[in-house]
Amino acid sequence: PPLDSIINTHDFELAAQHSATAKTWAFYSSACNDLITKDLNASLFTRVLFRPRVMRKVDKISPATSILGHDVSFPLMISPAAMARLIHPDGELAIARATKSQSIIQCISNNASYSASEIVSQDVVTDYPFFFQLYVDRQRHKSEALLRKIHSHKNITGIFVTTDAAAAGKREADERVKADETIQNPMMTSNATNDKKGGGYGRLMGSFIDPNLNWADITWLRSQTKLPLVLKGIMSADDVRLALEHGLDGVVLSNHGGRNLDTSPPGLLVLMEIHARFPEIITQHHPRSAAVRQGRARPFSIFVDGGVRRGTDILKLVCLGAVAAGVGRPALFATGYGQEGVEHLIEMLKDEFETAMRNIGVTSIDECSPDYINSGAIDKWVVKRREHPYAVS
Ligand code: FNR
Repeated sequence: PPLDSIINTHDFELAAQHSATAKTWAFYSSACNDLITKDLNASLFTRVLFRPRVMRKVDKISPATSILGHDVSFPLMISPAAMARLIHPDGELAIARATKSQSIIQCISNNASYSASEIVSQDVVTDYPFFFQLYVDRQRHKSEALLRKIHSHKNITGIFVTTDAAAAGKREADERVKADETIQNPMMTSNATNDKKGGGYGRLMGSFIDPNLNWADITWLRSQTKLPLVLKGIMSADDVRLALEHGLDGVVLSNHGGRNLDTSPPGLLVLMEIHARFPEIITQHHPRSAAVRQGRARPFSIFVDGGVRRGTDILKLVCLGAVAAGVGRPALFATGYGQEGVEHLIEMLKDEFETAMRNIGVTSIDECSPDYINSGAIDKWVVKRREHPYAVS
């Protein structure tokens, strides 16, 4: 379908399903096991509602904000997703140009189909910020060398270390469909042919990732980079607290789009768990909190991705204290139309976001707060954890 007939993220998904090869579609769309987490990521947004306020003079509004110190047009990030070139020859290069033209930020995948250097050195984006997502290699010296390379690009301004890939999930759709070709990816360790464990790209690309990565490694990570350091793939309020205590700059509440552990919780649920159990992480450490602005607390940025398909989803997350929401698959699907497609995706989500801002009665990101969220429908599901005398912590 022509790009001008695409009016929402679902249209992009359908278009990708038709245009991509069977293997690319399987790799992009798949998640592990029974897809319970993948589906819940999206459907939980239907259970958390707004508490809109009316009669508020909302003609003039601004969705602009900043993330990790960079001004963006609205609180959206392109989450790191591998191998965008499978759907369009420009792949991640196109995403990069679109993020600049729309003033949002792309977090480049460790497993991107173009190297981070190729992506950030394109003429038009050399003055534009990017984040880089790192998978820590079993051979640490390889990660150290990669970070040195990353640091040679002054426009890469944040490191996101993915923590939720200790084991590649069983992505059955990806494993069932035979690879069309040997795909070009620097991280691919062997040809994507079907063996007895299937031909899943996810598993083939993930074998270098160190499953022993642990909290003691934060000291090593900090010694390797001076850039803001964010842990991606956090799925419990307890680990958010640990990340804060270990001096990290933030977390991405994420379950990898449901690709690694089925029945892991959506970031939206974890965000609510933080409110229930450690509200000070948000009230004190949100980069826009009074405590941070007055220099009494360290800023700590919470990002959320997984199932974000509408501007309303982004606004709910922002009201609950996220600095930005991320999209993974929607960006890959939009890349099917090249740079223009990704620009169109960002514009659509921004338009939906602005519409929702007006209709809940806020004119700026600063005004967004949990007051605008009505989670009555699911509050009773949220387990308020107490001390468990039988549990070893
Ligand atoms: C991913 N994701 C991912 N995450 C990461 O840290 N490094 C990576 O290389 C990849 N690769 C990747 C490939 C594909 C095809 C998908 C769909 C996802 C996870 C990604 O960053 C993000 O967490 C999810 O995609 C968010 O969920 P949605 O937006 O796809 O529902």
